[in-house]
Amino acid sequence: MNIVIINGQNHKGSTRMIARELAEKVGGEITEFFLLRDFDEPCLGCWSCFKTDMTRCPHYEKLNPLTEAMDKANPIILASPVYVFHAPGQMMSFLDHYGTCWMVHRPKEQMFRKQGVCVATAAGGGTKGTNRDMYDSLLFWGVPKIYQLGFGVRAAGPDQIPEKILRRIHRETDVTAEKIHRNAGRSGVSVQGRFWFYTIRFAHKHFKRSEPDYSYWEQRGWHGKQRPWKTAIKSGNLERQEDK
Ligand SMILES: Cc1cc2nc3c(=O)[nH]c(=O)nc-3n(C[C@H](O)[C@H](O)[C@H](O)COP(=O)(O)O)c2cc1C
Repeated sequence: MNIVIINGQNHKGSTRMIARELAEKVGGEITEFFLLRDFDEPCLGCWSCFKTDMTRCPHYEKLNPLTEAMDKANPIILASPVYVFHAPGQMMSFLDHYGTCWMVHRPKEQMFRKQGVCVATAAGGGTKGTNRDMYDSLLFWGVPKIYQLGFGVRAAGPDQIPEKILRRIHRETDVTAEKIHRNAGRSGVSVQGRFWFYTIRFAHKHFKRSEPDYSYWEQRGWHGKQRPWKTAIKSGNLERQEDK
């Protein structure tokens, strides 16, 4: 498999250790990025991506290696330590750049055949909120299968994690890797994804047209019978995939 890990921290701490352990258990080619080292820009709120497309983003060149890696990868792993009960600012700044890829705007077809993983660690609490921060993006990009791994590691770094918690980490990464293999190659849509897709489709048909979103959907036949989760882009051809 072609796996990408986006680390919400520069250092190789507990969160990165768990994300890496999972990726190695899944097996395949692993590409890793570290925030801020590999991308350090906040969204400027210029609306260029919404009004035109992501190539007009002032940070397009810097962001593109990460975008291309995520487009190619399956699964996508987003991994963040908990900072004050949420994902660190650099992870949120990174995710802000993909607002235009949300289901309610212009989702990419290939996202509907990917699996996603959120990994969060805290000293004690806050992994739920942090995973939710990352989960929302994967969900709204269209990723149908998302796993969430959250651990209160009671440590400031990997070498301090108690043995009992380490055993839980090994067990849960085993189980998640197995699930990822079982679901490999499938495309589909989540219940929430389906809800949002049809809500936006309805809005496009009944309310004032919002461009360029409307044309994007129209070109892909989504206002008609085509559905992004029934097609996947392979070698430039649209092929029918298993419908979930
Ligand atoms: C700025 C900052 C804020 C933190 N906020 C929380 C928190 O809200 N809850 C918590 O349990 N741990 C918190 N921690 C502890 C880390 O989340 C925890 O040690 C985590 O496992 C570190 O992951 P890492 O080794 O991948 O960096 C915080 C740590 C830092 C540096």
